[in-house]
Amino acid sequence: MIGRIVGKSVGEIIFRQSYKEDVKIGEILIADDREKNALFFLRVVDIEYGQEGEKWGIKAAGDMLLLDEKNEKYELREKDRRLYKICICKPLGYIQNGRFYKPKTLPSHFCVVRRANKNDYKFLEKYMGDIEIGKIRSGEKEIDVKVGIKGELIPYHIGIFATTGMGKSNLMRVFAASAMNLGKYGILIIDPHGEYYEGGIGKGLKDHPKADERLVVYSPHAKFGINRLKISAYEINVTDLEDIFSFSEAQKEALYALHSKFGKKWLVELFEKEVAELSEIFGKRIQDITFSVLKRRADRIMRSEIIHRDENVTTTDAIIKDLYDGKVVLIDTSGLYEYEELLVSVVLARKILNNNKKLFRDKERFKKIPPVLITVEEAQRVLHNGIFAQIAREGRKFKVGLCAITQQPKLIKEELLSQFNTFFILGLADEGDRNILKSSAKQDISKLEKEIQTLEVGEALITYPGAPFAIPAKIHWYDDYIENMRANENKNEKNKEILNERVDEGFY
Ligand SMILES: Nc1ncnc2c1ncn2[C@@H]1O[C@H](COP(=O)(O)OP(=O)(O)OP(=O)(O)O)[C@@H](O)[C@H]1O
Ligand SMILES: [Mg+2]
Repeated sequence: MIGRIVGKSVGEIIFRQSYKEDVKIGEILIADDREKNALFFLRVVDIEYGQEGEKWGIKAAGDMLLLDEKNEKYELREKDRRLYKICICKPLGYIQNGRFYKPKTLPSHFCVVRRANKNDYKFLEKYMGDIEIGKIRSGEKEIDVKVGIKGELIPYHIGIFATTGMGKSNLMRVFAASAMNLGKYGILIIDPHGEYYEGGIGKGLKDHPKADERLVVYSPHAKFGINRLKISAYEINVTDLEDIFSFSEAQKEALYALHSKFGKKWLVELFEKEVAELSEIFGKRIQDITFSVLKRRADRIMRSEIIHRDENVTTTDAIIKDLYDGKVVLIDTSGLYEYEELLVSVVLARKILNNNKKLFRDKERFKKIPPVLITVEEAQRVLHNGIFAQIAREGRKFKVGLCAITQQPKLIKEELLSQFNTFFILGLADEGDRNILKSSAKQDISKLEKEIQTLEVGEALITYPGAPFAIPAKIHWYDDYIENMRANENKNEKNKEILNERVDEGFY
């Protein structure tokens, strides 16, 4: 027993803490109401000092200070009765007759509060999805109930938010590892730091037991087992360039004129033709200076090591096919210039959305393709407009989801953020970042300020449609997660062998 309820309302429960116990913020406790035969779930959101008699404490501290100066000891009489702590809790809901209800009634007066055990959390299992990412957490303690996200929520977009070093990339690796196990979802990961494949200090996606069948990697630094990242100049649209560079109205006009004249060869023609030639074709309509500026941009793109000019080779089609086959496709863009990385992301995102839109018209074929998730690190750079904003707004209809990973959610427009239905909130130091998430999350996290502030590395709060409340989780550490996977696989293999031997020996 850790306390007894003393107040206060349906929206806020407070209890006096037993002096023997130490409660922490974020812990989920149970008010075990025998009178009502109900279990109330309470999340500790704050802890305050309490004392019997108002001024007594101030006087006692003064007396102590005087005695300190004289190096004498102070004896507190009835310390355990007079001094106490008050835990302030947000009620999460209650279970009665096997059903979970939102908090709309009060536990009985002086109801006993205790710590939750694994059985108390059992009801959460039905809210969990197939993409496993960790375990339930109460405060700092991990509880042996798995936490997973439903794959069907992928097209409703996912946000991963945390200050640097709090565990965003690890979470994404774990997410990808679970998706690789399932083989039911297409996950595209754009990796600007080159940290997903090898893993850096820890293990990487290449160490996953199913990497051979379910992981496809593209990189400009191709080596054994890795495809060379190349996109065709003919696949680049005018809109793609508009997404990554800013152009004046006159320049935009010229780009569209080039496109309507040369079709998908527009970029190659712009690159190959001299300004004088272009002037001759387009006449006075477009100034030479406009072409010169555009040609400089085209030059930069065409000379990039990731652009090729072979019309028949399109890596993007192969990538889309792998995604439809339920694989994880990793695009390593480390070492590239930012404009190259953005160009790859934008072209791929647009082609995936357009392809799905095309398939959408054929209901039978559309039904067969899996949800596809496009993951972008430092998402605040690309989300503002263009293809990524378009996917955020209309992707759900076409089974394309975005996973935005960012340290600064406040840089994302609120209107766009509200399109994201699943939030992984890890430790966030900045108040502005926490506030913007508060107003967009699908569960009420308004009282969880202190918990979010004090989340340790790898600890998260997860909100998604249909969750009974913001789910506290400890994200698996990727290395341990795949280590366990291997151990389980070996165990299953062994069991199979034993079974076969026994069958051979005539046991069965
Ligand atoms: N779930 C976890 N369990 C244990 N340790 C973790 C966990 N997640 C992250 N860590 C530790 O924190 C370190 C940083 O994690 P990670 O690289 O995922 O952070 P990040 O949020 O992606 O950082 P950055 O903003 O720099 O990209 C890891 O190297 C690891 O030591
Ligand atoms: Mg990271």
